[in-house]
Parts: sequence; C-alpha cells; structure tokens
Amino acid sequence: MHPHLQPGPLPARMQLAPGNRLKHFLTIEGLPHLLLHEILERAEQFVTLPAKQQKKAPLLRGKTVMNLFFENSTRTRVTFEIAAQRLGADVINLDIRTSSAAKGESLLDTVRNLEAMNADMFVVRHEHAGTAQFIARYAAPHISVLNAGDGRHAHPTQAMLDMFTIRQKKGAFEPLKVAIVGDVLHSRVARSQIHALNTLLTGEVRIIAPRTLIPADIEKMGVRVFHRMEEGLRDVDVVIMLRLQRERMEGALLPSESEFFKLYGLTEKRLELTKPDSIVMHPGPINRGVEIDSAVADGPRSVILEQVTNGIAVRMAVMSMIMGSTVGGTA
Ligand code: NCD
Repeated sequence: MHPHLQPGPLPARMQLAPGNRLKHFLTIEGLPHLLLHEILERAEQFVTLPAKQQKKAPLLRGKTVMNLFFENSTRTRVTFEIAAQRLGADVINLDIRTSSAAKGESLLDTVRNLEAMNADMFVVRHEHAGTAQFIARYAAPHISVLNAGDGRHAHPTQAMLDMFTIRQKKGAFEPLKVAIVGDVLHSRVARSQIHALNTLLTGEVRIIAPRTLIPADIEKMGVRVFHRMEEGLRDVDVVIMLRLQRERMEGALLPSESEFFKLYGLTEKRLELTKPDSIVMHPGPINRGVEIDSAVADGPRSVILEQVTNGIAVRMAVMSMIMGSTVGGTA
C-alpha cells in the first residue's frame, strides 16, 4: 500500500466517511496524499471556472453553514463566508460576544440549538485546541465540522491555501526547500503547514526560530531546525513568515520586538540569501517591522495578498467535497 494511503491516527480517521470521503476537516495530520491533491485540483477548478458557471451550479444550495468564531478573525471568517455564498449556501455568522455563550451556555447546548435550526456545517474557531474535534464528535450525524483554527493545534484550510499558492507559483513540491520562520511554538498554521508539506513530499522543510519559540518535539515532524536566518534562508524557494503571537505567550520568551526583528525579521538584505525567484508568504495578520519589513511585505516577491484570494477557492473546494458534490453536477 502507498504509505500516504494508510489510515492516520484517530483524529484523521474521524475525518473520513466510508470511501475516504471527507466528512469533517479538523487537521491535516494523517490525511492521505491523494485527498490533499484532490483539494488542490478542485480549488484550481474554482479559480478557472467562470463566475457565471459557478452561479449556475450552486453546489451547496439549500445548505446552511454556520460560522462559529470564538476568537477574532478577519481573513478566515470572511473568506469562509464568501466561499459558502458562492456555493449557494445560506451563511449565518454567529457573533459569539452577543450570543448565549457569553451568558454561560455550554458549548454543547449552543451546538444542540444550532442543530435545531437545521445547520449542515459548522465552521469553528476557538482558542482551545481540540474544540472543533469535540464538536464533530458530539454533533448530529449529518453535520460536518470545519476547523478554522483551534489553539496552537491546527488550521487546516490555511495550510491548504498556502499549499495552493506554493503550487501555483512553483509547480511540483518535490524539488522545493521551504523555510517557516518565527514563532513556531504558538503557531497552529506552522503545524498544519508542516504536515501538508510533508504529505505532499516537499524536498526539505526548515524551521528558523529562537530556541524559546520552537516546540520540543519539532524534529520528530521531519523538519530541519535552524536558529540563524543567515543559515536557514540559504537557497530556499519559499519563505513563510509567522506572526509573533503575543496573546499566546506566557512569561518572557523574547527580549523585545526590536531585538526579534534584528535577529529574525525578514529584510530585503536577508531575502538575498534565498533563491533569486523565491516567494514570501505570511498567513496574516502581519506585524510590520516585527517579523517582516514593509519593503518585503509589499515587494515583488510577496504573495501575501494572493494567499488571501486563494483562500476563497480552497475553502469552496473543501466545503463542496464535504457536501459530496462534484464541480459540474451534484453527486
Ligand atoms: C492565523 C491564525 O489565526 O492562526 N491567521 C489566519 O488565520 N490568517 C495566524 C495568526 O493569527 O498569526
């Protein structure tokens, strides 16, 4: 059996219905290579399919998608909303600050009530790792759950829109060297990217960060660890910058933001160490002058805003696969 077709650990198996159909999208870990490819291919179809044709075949017509964001978000929430609307779904954005969760209603009670309003899909963002998985386990059987970021754990649609952007710019993954730079310790995005890059057989995945911002077991994930930009950036094809996630830091992990920029900030000078045609990525929101210089963020190698645009097609792809519909006709 192809190693990437073997069933993954429990959370991954939980994501697949019989026939390896995607039922929930909670983590990249353990998902088959073929499935990640299918997401990329399908997203490509949505990018190239004329808007008129998309409107004619609303794959999620009659379905209700509920956005449950317990944590702040701009890009992720809005692109999920646009994606669901383009597929013809009814989209409900729950403002958690004014919902009953703020009055102490338990998560499961909130879920039961939303189920009673005929929800088909929950898009969940929560500060605690495992929340989307928890909801998936206890929700009614017809409901699908998409993880839009849980604590430091996973952010699978972000990783897939990043993979889509890399493929769009670079083609095959096998020859590529990719460096992920900065606050890996607190980053659900980095974790999902590493799983996706490995599953897609990327040539080399590097991490560049200070010792205090690297999770203890990172080498087990099959990455090369660097502590100096001058070494880690050499000859890479793709640089992925991460935001310094102050809100998740306990205690003083860093001397100061200006010190961090001095050591790990991406400047035009440092970019010269990478391949001449390298690209610069960032999941956003960016902190100018903290992890990335404005000249780089707005420069010709930056694909940061293209990542945002690609988020729509990739989220359309995942949602339509979950609902079991095919582009060009519903299955
Ligand atoms: C990321 C997130 O929320 O995990 N942002 C995003 O979804 N675009 C990264 C971050 O907050 O730094």
